[in-house]
Amino acid sequence: MKTDFLSLADLSSSEIIGLIERAVALKAEWKSGGNPPLLAGKTLAMVFQKPSLRTRVSFEMAMRHLGGAAMYLSPDEIGLGKRESVADVARVLSRYVDGIMARVFAHAHVVELARYSRVPVINGLSDYSHPCQGLADLLTIYEKFGRLSGVRLAYVGDGNNVLTSLLFGGSKVGMRIVSANPPGYEPAQEVLEQARGFAAASGGSVDVTHDAHEAVRGADVIYTDVWTSMGQEAEREQRLRVFPPYQVNSRLVSGAQPHVVVMHCLPAHRGEEITDEVIDGPHSVVFDQAENRMHAQKAILVRLLAGEA
Ligand code: CP
Ligand code: NVA
Repeated sequence: MKTDFLSLADLSSSEIIGLIERAVALKAEWKSGGNPPLLAGKTLAMVFQKPSLRTRVSFEMAMRHLGGAAMYLSPDEIGLGKRESVADVARVLSRYVDGIMARVFAHAHVVELARYSRVPVINGLSDYSHPCQGLADLLTIYEKFGRLSGVRLAYVGDGNNVLTSLLFGGSKVGMRIVSANPPGYEPAQEVLEQARGFAAASGGSVDVTHDAHEAVRGADVIYTDVWTSMGQEAEREQRLRVFPPYQVNSRLVSGAQPHVVVMHCLPAHRGEEITDEVIDGPHSVVFDQAENRMHAQKAILVRLLAGEA
């Protein structure tokens, strides 16, 4: 039976913690000279409907460090769902490669790939969620605080795919999350309900507000992301009018705990959701976070492609 990695909601808290521990070990191993070829002879196909820096390069290097190979398939190349049906792409790729990572517009497409693929499918970002990012974010928070349970995270900005994965992952491991979003840009109700259910089981909490300053009070982590995600470009002007009170700037950061770390999945729109002063300042951990994409994904790849539990 193959295992997919589509949403952090599908994993148990001990599976998430297990992946983080594996990532910590793989990172230490890599820093002290290199990883063993756990994925020798394995190939990952990487299907992209949208641009990417981190996802593409971190997956490609993760495969290479583990002795395997990665193949980049650009948006124009395979025409997922346009030149060929999603199901047929999944059936064909399954005959050649050992795993598929896909970045798609519609989440239903990554679900459909997984349904028709014989090999594991990894969600490399959809309009719904970004679980590889979420796992790397938890790894980063774990490194900074030595724990996840009870860590207070304030998310400030758009109720988007990145927030969905943070809500699922964070609520599974007992974090206390407050999300500040403009009215009309909150996370989907069903996402909040699921996350609250996970938090009830883990001892964490999930709250939403429209007040960014209220959200960051007492926060250990402030997290933000772009106001306009890939695929929403037509809404950009409207969003630029709505979101300025949710900018992560020095004044907002000063309302959190003195040790607060500031996170952003990148790419950043500097001067919009975050100021230069904050992203380049002493609280920012955004480049550690970007590096951790590679380490977290090594743990995912080893679990899915080498069949490691
Ligand atoms: N954070 C992230 O997924 O970056 P890319 O869009 O560059 O892959
Ligand atoms: N929310 C952003 C994340 C990019 C990594 C987007 O979907 O464009």
